[in-house]
Amino acid sequence: MALHIIDHPLVQHKLALLREQGISTKSFRELVSEVGTLLTYEATKSLPLETQTIKSWEGSDIQVSKLQGKKITVVPILRAGLGMMDGVMELIPAAKVSVVGLQRNEQTLEPVPYFEKLVGKIDERLSLVIDPMLATGGSLIATIDMLKEAGCKQIKAVILVAAPEGVEATLNAHPDVEIYTASLDSHLNEHGYIVPGLGDAGDKIFGTL
Ligand code: URA
Repeated sequence: MALHIIDHPLVQHKLALLREQGISTKSFRELVSEVGTLLTYEATKSLPLETQTIKSWEGSDIQVSKLQGKKITVVPILRAGLGMMDGVMELIPAAKVSVVGLQRNEQTLEPVPYFEKLVGKIDERLSLVIDPMLATGGSLIATIDMLKEAGCKQIKAVILVAAPEGVEATLNAHPDVEIYTASLDSHLNEHGYIVPGLGDAGDKIFGTL
């Protein structure tokens, strides 16, 4: 299934706290990071394991399961994606980071990359794209386009709150991509905000309200 809604009680509790009016920048930032960790736990569930033989504490050879060494790149979409990064990296501290920035072309309204710094050997890596909000899907689709053009073959998106419009657009454009989110909300309002959503996640993370 390409859309995974993570209904773990800790995720849902933290999401509820994030939705409260008047939440402080400190609390919002901490919770975004914490939910980022929990969603990453789910998004990495299918990483391949291999059997290895190691010496155990009492000297015998035992077989253990270890990650196959599948390389991962975390891909925060500027700016709000940075807010999830620490939480995501907590579980995969050796992951390399590819940063993507997009801005809207005011004529076409399409997202256009203004910053792209992808790590090497991206064709051998799983990309975990992180962005708190999936609204229209424009930025996520453009980021996935960019990653695929660079040769990336496996992409997952880790999103705090998604709108149905954004999920549909993303999966229409890229049916092979898996989306992990804490919530599929109701709809986008006339200003492009997710309802009920969280408000402007970037502003709340960076305190630029
Ligand atoms: N970006 C946000 O930060 N919030 C939304 O609701 C939509 C896009």
